[in-house]
Amino acid sequence: MKNYLKDKKIITNIEKLDKQHSILFKLIKKLKTILTIGEPDYAEMINVLAELNAYTNFHFKTEEAFFEEHGYKNLDLHRAKHQSFIEQVEAFSLENALGTPGLGEEMLEFLENWLIIHIQHLDVSACRQLNLTDKKDIGK
Ligand SMILES: [Fe+2]
Ligand SMILES: [Fe+2]
Repeated sequence: MKNYLKDKKIITNIEKLDKQHSILFKLIKKLKTILTIGEPDYAEMINVLAELNAYTNFHFKTEEAFFEEHGYKNLDLHRAKHQSFIEQVEAFSLENALGTPGLGEEMLEFLENWLIIHIQHLDVSACRQLNLTDKKDIGK
């Protein structure tokens, strides 16, 4: 997963944030895998989706507290972006995903791309602005 972050140029160099980002991508990929196998396991999808929901909230809270602690100036805007992602995840409907061929994959693709762009443009630049990129121990 570290290579995935590297490939997409979304490494913040804050260990705990990179770890949490990896877990978010893993959960999205897990959902994608369940959805694309022959007969998707509905119960498993519900579990993974609940996990994604909970972990998204947990990650955003951690990140916002971390930025606040280090005096990040654009926190309100950043928070609003997080909130809109939470709403997108909540709007993910299993019924729709399973009822319309291709729709679930498309929705997951959207979530994945949203996260990539968000991390690239906001998380990485926030860490850079705060000059936190070299101080790996700060993020632990
Ligand atoms: Fe993040
Ligand atoms: Fe963020």
